Amino acid sequence: VRAFPLPRHRNLAILPTNLLLCGQESLERQRADRYTGASIRAHPGKMRPALARTLIERYTKPDDWILDPLSGIGTTGVEAVHLGRNYVGIELEPRFVTLQRQNLKRARKHGASGMGTVYQGDAQRLDGWNRSLKTSLSEDGPVDAIITSPPYGGRLKSERGPRSKLLCQWIEEGRVPATLIPASYGIGPQNLGNLRGARYLEGMRQVYRGCYQCLRSGGLMLLVLQPDREQQHLRPLHHETATLCQDLGFELLDELVAVLGRIVASPGQPARLTTHTSFWRRLAVAHLREAGHPVTLCQLEYVLVFRKPPVEPARHLTPKAKSGRQAALAGPGVRSG
Ligand SMILES: C[S@@+](CC[C@H](N)C(=O)[O-])C[C@H]1O[C@@H](n2cnc3c(N)ncnc32)[C@H](O)[C@@H]1O
Repeated sequence: VRAFPLPRHRNLAILPTNLLLCGQESLERQRADRYTGASIRAHPGKMRPALARTLIERYTKPDDWILDPLSGIGTTGVEAVHLGRNYVGIELEPRFVTLQRQNLKRARKHGASGMGTVYQGDAQRLDGWNRSLKTSLSEDGPVDAIITSPPYGGRLKSERGPRSKLLCQWIEEGRVPATLIPASYGIGPQNLGNLRGARYLEGMRQVYRGCYQCLRSGGLMLLVLQPDREQQHLRPLHHETATLCQDLGFELLDELVAVLGRIVASPGQPARLTTHTSFWRRLAVAHLREAGHPVTLCQLEYVLVFRKPPVEPARHLTPKAKSGRQAALAGPGVRSG
């Protein structure tokens, strides 16, 4: 098991806390020129780069292999390779895979030292993918850490779909084309973003089961997610996910709160929060409030920290198995660095 040492001089005042400030810098600055404009515009639910960076720095070390099985345009991957970690991504939608490849290529151009690979595929079938790797490796999965943000069953649709009166009106008036903003990540039931309720949870169970098998013993899985909302009702997706993963054998170690808004504190003034949220989210909350439901604008994401239980040291990878693992994970995909 990796040790996470005490701060220098055993200074207990600077222990890491479970509060992460991820909105202090604008999203434009966080993405700077690391991501192509096309990828930023195309994906409706990206992770904040500042959050990905913090998690990678805090929970992994250089040369580790990080997997993101629901990887979108590759925020985890781009930040990982810039920080000298190696990365494997899986993404279902071919257009996001193409855009992610371009982002990883750009990272390599900018001097990122880690290797980055993305595969197009269904994350519900990770166990099959891992089985072929395991033949040349140890009993353990080959991945040191998993960092991912799952889609939330049907959320995009409910925020941007037919219930968005303003969008419907603009489309009717011909002010915006109907295709301007995708109402989902993609079509079809394989995309977990299109599923709801029990079907969504069953799909995610498959993904997390595969994640468990891909992880080495003692490896961490970090899930970034928000509670979901079905109209006025809050659905505690983070609680449901915690239970789901514990049932699969993961240990739940921690829950962090990432603050998405920007906290501005001037001397002598009370601190203020500048909110950061999409137009669609605001609109959805405004509609609910108009209809008499006292709901608020979500300004946080939870990070659930899970661990695959460690085993005795004898089962750790030998140097030979380690180099086999590197070759197997890097595979035929696109490499960065
Ligand atoms: C919340 S987004 C992740 C965004 C990513 N963290 C980023 O910053 O670009 C979830 C992603 O999961 C993908 N996805 C949904 N179902 C999938 C499946 N069965 N297999 C692989 N990817 C899937 C969606 O297409 C979407 O891009």
